Amino acid sequence: MAYNLLKGKRGIIFGALDENSIAWQVALKAKEEGAKFVLSNSPIALRKKDIFELAKTTESQVIAADVTEVSELEDLFEESMKILGGQIDFVLHSVGMSPNVRKNIPYPELDYDYLMKTLDVSAISLHKVLSVAKKMDAISEWGSVVTLSYIASQRVFSSYSDMSQAKAMLESIVRQFGYHYGISKKVRINAVSQSPTKTTAGTGVSGFNAFYNYADAMSPLGNADASSCSDVCVFLFSDLSRMITMQTIYNDGGFSMMGISNKLIQQYIDCGCGE
Ligand SMILES: NC(=O)c1ccc[n+]([C@@H]2O[C@H](COP(=O)([O-])OP(=O)(O)OC[C@H]3O[C@@H](n4cnc5c(N)ncnc54)[C@H](O)[C@@H]3O)[C@@H](O)[C@H]2O)c1
Repeated sequence: MAYNLLKGKRGIIFGALDENSIAWQVALKAKEEGAKFVLSNSPIALRKKDIFELAKTTESQVIAADVTEVSELEDLFEESMKILGGQIDFVLHSVGMSPNVRKNIPYPELDYDYLMKTLDVSAISLHKVLSVAKKMDAISEWGSVVTLSYIASQRVFSSYSDMSQAKAMLESIVRQFGYHYGISKKVRINAVSQSPTKTTAGTGVSGFNAFYNYADAMSPLGNADASSCSDVCVFLFSDLSRMITMQTIYNDGGFSMMGISNKLIQQYIDCGCGE
């Protein structure tokens, strides 16, 4: 059911790779709620071509930009404002990548060049997007920027590796830039901390299925899927959330408040590990 929550709003959505991507679901929901937007992804990701299907469905245009390249972000904002006919009201930053995770490098032996790449793509890129937008005055007053995080920013998830540092930095940028952009233009910046979700980035983490099932058994509501995440993002883009900024909001079925659940205790007993 649609409520026209984003009627007349203009956006940029980063990170829709294929139909499993969280950004893909956000784009569908934003369209349903009346928004018009530009889709963006890295030049390499565009070679996969799926995004053009989404563009067709949502009547949007696709602009290539590597989020680590400031000049490409400048071009993206300029072009998007031309296409959409004015300042941008919302931005989804749904981007993450770790070469250390991809190559399964053990955490104590991190490759530091890869670590820099992880931080640049997965965290500093949010700063770059915000900094470019602020300099160009590309986001309207009371505009809303949302990024995606994971609870490994706060706690140890053994196989999440250097993405934990990236998410900690990302949430810190949300708070600190949220102050500066809030003061100057009332632009809001928030993170949604999402349950494990079966996407290309998610399943790249080693042991992902165990990770996913564990979180599902721990959370009183079960894991939150990409569609529920898109609901939260749309709420955060909308005027209904106009006084919410600098927050990390958990869309995780209650996982972050749990210690242990009866379901997990029972599974432990059933496998003979409870003696
Ligand atoms: N899937 C999960 O379990 C989960 C849980 C919590 C948070 N998240 C976060 O959600 C966000 C979206 O990931 P997803 O799970 O939808 O996976 P995904 O693989 O579909 O999306 C990641 C996106 O990042 C893009 N990207 C990577 N490098 C880029 C670059 N240099 N420039 C521009 N784009 C680039 C990819 O092309 C891809 O579209 C990520 O920040 C991820 O960490 C995912």
